[in-house]
Amino acid sequence: MEVKTSLLDNMIGVGDMVLLEPLSEDSFLENLKKRFDHNEIYTYIGSVVISMNPYRSLPIYSPEKVEEYRNRNFYELSPHIYALADEAYRSLRDQDKDQCILITGESGSGKTEASKLVMSYVAAVCGKGQEVNKVKEQLLQSNPVLEAFGNAKTVRNDNSSRFGKYMDIEFDFKGDPLGGVISNYLLEKSRVVKQPRGERNFHIFYQLLSGASDDTLKKLKLDRDFSKYNYLSLDSAVVNGLDDATSFRTVKNAMQIVGFMEDEIRSVLELVAAVLKLGNIEFKPESRCNDTDESRVRDKNDLKEMCELLGIEQTVLERAFSYRTVEAKLEKVSTTLNVAQAYYARDALAKNLYSRLFSWLVTRINESIKAQTKSRHKVMGVLDIYGFEIFEDNSFEQFIINYCNEKLQQIFIELTLREEQEEYIREGIEWTNIEYFNNAVICDLIENNQNGIMAMLDEECLRPGTVTDETFLDKLNTVCAEHQHFESRLSKNSKFLNDHSLPHSCFRIQHYAGKVLYCVEGFVDKNNDLLYRDLSQAMFKATHSLMKELFPEGNPSKVNLKRPPTAGSQFKSSVGTLMKNLQTKNPNYIRCIKPNDKKAAHIFTASLVCHQVRYLGLMENVRVRRAGYAFRQPYGPCLERYKMLCKRTWPHWRGPAREGVEVLMADLQVPTEEFSYGRSKIFIRNPRTLFFLEERRRQCLQDLATLIQKIYRGWKCRTHFLLLKKSQVVVAAWYRRYAQQKKYQRIKSATTVVQSYARGWQARKLLRELKHQKRCEEAVTTIAAYWHGTQARTELRRLKQEVRNKHAVTVIWAYWQGTQARRELRKLKEEARRKHAVAVIWACWQGLKVRREYRKFFRANAGKKIYNFTIQRIMQKYFLGVKSGLPSMSPVDKNWPARPYRFLDAAHAQLRSIFHLWRCKKYRSQFSQERKAVYQEKLEASELFKDKKSLYPSSVSQPFKGDYLEISKNPKYQKLNSCVEEKVLLADVVNKINRANGKGASRILLLTKKNVVLADQKTGQVKASVALPDLISVSVSTQNDGFFALKLKEGSASAVKGDFLLSSEHLIETITKLHHIGSTASDDGEQLDINISDEFLVQFKQDKVCVKFIQAAPKNGNSASCKRKNNRLLEVSVPAATA
Ligand SMILES: Nc1ncnc2c1ncn2[C@@H]1O[C@H](COP(=O)(O)OP(=O)(O)OP(=O)(O)O)[C@@H](O)[C@H]1O
Ligand SMILES: [Mg+2]
Repeated sequence: MEVKTSLLDNMIGVGDMVLLEPLSEDSFLENLKKRFDHNEIYTYIGSVVISMNPYRSLPIYSPEKVEEYRNRNFYELSPHIYALADEAYRSLRDQDKDQCILITGESGSGKTEASKLVMSYVAAVCGKGQEVNKVKEQLLQSNPVLEAFGNAKTVRNDNSSRFGKYMDIEFDFKGDPLGGVISNYLLEKSRVVKQPRGERNFHIFYQLLSGASDDTLKKLKLDRDFSKYNYLSLDSAVVNGLDDATSFRTVKNAMQIVGFMEDEIRSVLELVAAVLKLGNIEFKPESRCNDTDESRVRDKNDLKEMCELLGIEQTVLERAFSYRTVEAKLEKVSTTLNVAQAYYARDALAKNLYSRLFSWLVTRINESIKAQTKSRHKVMGVLDIYGFEIFEDNSFEQFIINYCNEKLQQIFIELTLREEQEEYIREGIEWTNIEYFNNAVICDLIENNQNGIMAMLDEECLRPGTVTDETFLDKLNTVCAEHQHFESRLSKNSKFLNDHSLPHSCFRIQHYAGKVLYCVEGFVDKNNDLLYRDLSQAMFKATHSLMKELFPEGNPSKVNLKRPPTAGSQFKSSVGTLMKNLQTKNPNYIRCIKPNDKKAAHIFTASLVCHQVRYLGLMENVRVRRAGYAFRQPYGPCLERYKMLCKRTWPHWRGPAREGVEVLMADLQVPTEEFSYGRSKIFIRNPRTLFFLEERRRQCLQDLATLIQKIYRGWKCRTHFLLLKKSQVVVAAWYRRYAQQKKYQRIKSATTVVQSYARGWQARKLLRELKHQKRCEEAVTTIAAYWHGTQARTELRRLKQEVRNKHAVTVIWAYWQGTQARRELRKLKEEARRKHAVAVIWACWQGLKVRREYRKFFRANAGKKIYNFTIQRIMQKYFLGVKSGLPSMSPVDKNWPARPYRFLDAAHAQLRSIFHLWRCKKYRSQFSQERKAVYQEKLEASELFKDKKSLYPSSVSQPFKGDYLEISKNPKYQKLNSCVEEKVLLADVVNKINRANGKGASRILLLTKKNVVLADQKTGQVKASVALPDLISVSVSTQNDGFFALKLKEGSASAVKGDFLLSSEHLIETITKLHHIGSTASDDGEQLDINISDEFLVQFKQDKVCVKFIQAAPKNGNSASCKRKNNRLLEVSVPAATA
């Protein structure tokens, strides 16, 4: 059984009194002293902590100490209040048990300090976080506020709690503080108006006067000098080691942290100031006619200032101090107050005002620190109630305080001594009974409902008739006289009759902690706690909101004639509630002991300590613990807690819990004297055994934790791995998808490129092929054309050849003839020449002879002959030259041989003309009939338009086809063709110009010998048919456009809709044909009028519209456009002909 550290290690004296040997009062005190001298102020009795007040600060509350005790077993380290706090906190957090920390001891023994240490420890070890820290801070900072208002210096304690405080700290399931609730118990309010010698009023009065700034004091109408205030005792106004000014700042700061608003703090201080002011109001008697004294306020200055401070009408308060209104049923009686009554009223007001202010503070703090969540809380209650006290003069307050301590002692006895012993018996554990003093009898003396002191006091207070403290004492003397713990002068208990230490106006109670002599003076009044209604109403009338709030009963509309419960009964019931509350929680005891009466360090007054040890029943406590067992636990929880220590009970034990525990203990080989089996619990004698179990459990838990950790880590790693794997699969899938997508996109784009190349290549190939094909076609066409051309040329050549041949034949014949003729001629000429030559020779000879003979006679005639001969020769040569240089037979051949001599000009021109005419005649003679007609039409066109219309020259080269639509062949126009009886001479698509807007609509124009027919281009339906005789003229412009108007004979059947304005691409041909047919169709052989002008009138129904042609810049191609300008004008823009 090895424990690493223990309270037994390096122990000074004995850390746990249970281990004290031999056990006696002396050894007990000696042990305490020894430890106290070595600064070991904490000692255990089992789980109870005895705390000695060191009256000096010890270095045992450092954060390191907190860490040292944190999560350690109670008995593991040397005794400390932190060990108890830790045990309570862990038990609350881990075992879900509500805890209460009961701190008891007499005044000055260190209860309040202990409670603060517990709270600060819990605050240090519980959870952290912004919100949690705020809660902690608020809980901790509530202490300075309540101490300032509820603590005072007494002869026993410089910081004595003058109220009882029970604070529930609430935790969540994790052990983090959520908030708290403070309950306060009866403030010793009598201290407000009067303090025993050597004591002070509540700290706040001194703190305010010392610490507040001048400005604040001025606003509160206060003076820094304590001596100016009747309610402040002067002899002990300054306390050693207490800096009121600093404390004031601490308190204000704490109030702010707790959550008080600035105006709330101001209001509170105003009320504190008001109490001080109230104490300074003094009264003087004023005689009245009926020999009674009526009180009057002596110096109204303080009254005035107080009223100003609280917003009370001065006269109202003044009157309340002079008169008292008693309401009984429907009657209201006003009685005057004498000076004593006025002082009584003033003090009652001051006490009430202060105690109500204190209760308001507690409520306000509670509002701030209450838990915000509604979930179930775990609760740790810390009880710090005023300690048992015995003064020189003990009054009602001490009676109440000591009663409360009596009750606490009772609960301690109940739970530690009686309960423990009873439990052993109940559980069938062998047990020798231990005697202890049970203070239930004293509690009964005080609180018994029939004849308890409190019941008597209440009865006396409520009784009609004259009631005084003396009558109350008399009553006690009659009722309680025989009680063994009650003593009084008139007590029937003869034992006390001769006790002269007992004054007549007092009674004595033998409390568990000693005898206390109570003076009955003031018991009735204090129990009644009366405040005249006039005063509460005056307070309610105040404009000061907090003041108003504190005196709700002053509200005239809520007058309550019922007596309020007495102070005693109120306290009794609240203590009763507290006790019940404490019993529901797991108690943790801190028993505080005061080492000396001098509030000094290092002094151990054995008698004083001995007295406390006795009345606190610490010896009995040790005895019970020693006789019994240090630890017990029901089998179920015990098995549950330690089952992991034995293989047979872990993880599940199927049998009864007790058997399981037995198996467990046997397995662990715990010596049998170390434990006993009760009926429902196992009792462990020695704490060491428990430590052993706990240590084993801790180790086992560590192993288990390791196992759980291992499994958890394994699980976590596996989960993590699976997640990673899954993620990897997802990532891989996504990546693959992405990669494939990319690849696909690449392939796709590549495919597109390849495709486009292939398509391009194919297209180009196709293009090449098509081009080739086209070229072939063109080539074929060209070849065909060339072929045809060749054919034609060959034919032409042949024809020409033929012609030439014919001609040649002719020519050759002619030449032959000519040659023949020439030969003949030459022969003839030769002959002639010869003849001529002969003749000439002859002649010459003759002539020579003659000339010789007749030379002198014939010389003059020879010149003429020579001349004629020469002329003849020249002419002959010229004709032969013309004949050899004749041009071709083409009529358009402009060639003509040049003339040799100018004198031949006329003959030469004449010859050329004759030749040309002859050539034309030859050319004409080979024409067919149709061709003749064509040339005739062309000729006619030339006659009509040449030099008259700019369009004409472009038409010359175009053959007149006539039927452009091949109407007889095209099946689309079969119906139309059939409608027209005559032979169609011209079929063409023309634009019929809309009269309204000048836009064109396609029509088929058919021209027969008798009619001009206009038909729909798509359907072939005849739209209009004009008999040629009805057509009187055709108008065209001089320009390069195809517009023409067909003017109809007025009144004719065709002229119903008026004239037609049309445009045609074959205008020249159309008009020429129309002119040609028109003249042949005319009955009277009248020519159709062709009007060529840039402005002509067209009859549209009733209107005559002028069609005007203007030249415009080329737009939308080269076609002319027609626009309706107004009702009378249609304007045709004709693009200027490009050169
Ligand atoms: N643990 C401690 N360490 C140092 N000083 C202490 C300790 N406990 C108490 N004291 C001193 O003893 C004084 C009185 O203690 P405390 O106010 O706690 O007594 P109390 O039991 O609450 O008395 P009362 O019943 O009058 O309120 C404290 O002001 C402080 O100076
Ligand atoms: Mg205290």
